[in-house]
Amino acid sequence: MNIDAFLTPYFPEKEDRFKKSLVIMIDVLRAGTTICAALYNGAKEIIPNESVETAVKIYSSLSKDNRFLGGERDGRMPNGFDGGNSPSEYSMDVVNNKTIIFTTSNGTSTFLKAKDAVERIIGSFVNINAVLDFLTFFIHNYGQENLNITFLCSGTNGRLSYEDTTCAGAYIDLISKNFLDSVMTDTALAAMEIYKKHETNLQQFIFEREHAQFLNKLGFENDIKIAMSYDYYPIVPIIRGNSIRAFRS
Ligand code: MLT
Repeated sequence: MNIDAFLTPYFPEKEDRFKKSLVIMIDVLRAGTTICAALYNGAKEIIPNESVETAVKIYSSLSKDNRFLGGERDGRMPNGFDGGNSPSEYSMDVVNNKTIIFTTSNGTSTFLKAKDAVERIIGSFVNINAVLDFLTFFIHNYGQENLNITFLCSGTNGRLSYEDTTCAGAYIDLISKNFLDSVMTDTALAAMEIYKKHETNLQQFIFEREHAQFLNKLGFENDIKIAMSYDYYPIVPIIRGNSIRAFRS
């Protein structure tokens, strides 16, 4: 089994690149974490969109009773939306049974990539052990031979972000301990090494980084705390076509 990673979602196009991959998509701050919150709290599905315009169009076509328009631009909820991109806004009383039409600056575009993958899931710190259980189940059924586990990080505006890189590194560390025969690419190894360098002080380290500082200035300190809490929302978001739902075995 090979473990690979892309630390930003921009890479040279290649047909069938992810054909033999289980792709784990990451946007810790905050889209991936907020999707975990919504599904954990009973949302029926999330429809990720690249643009606010498309999101509004899809939202307008749905029945008023069970739709929710959520997301952000420049960290803030766009005008006319039902919610922003804070996980705490997606509580059970608000999202239960709803279809969430969702658009964010980076994460939702990433979640629409790698459509040729064997399977696509969203991994974050808040669901790390749920995803590892899923991986064990998946690998048991699919087999290790010929399988790539590929991490696809959202980063921020085309650049690497430490929160996504360390999250991929935390997963890679655990996978390589559980599957001793796995072979890592240089990028996967680098992500793991960066994680290991900071693992004992990870929450504080991430809090001081670029995107967390930006969110903190907007008053979203609590979002960062939630996003860095292991197993806060133990659920596996699985992306099929353009829809994200909770995986049920
Ligand atoms: C994104 O998708 O770019 C992020 O989730 C931005 C944010 O923190 O709201």
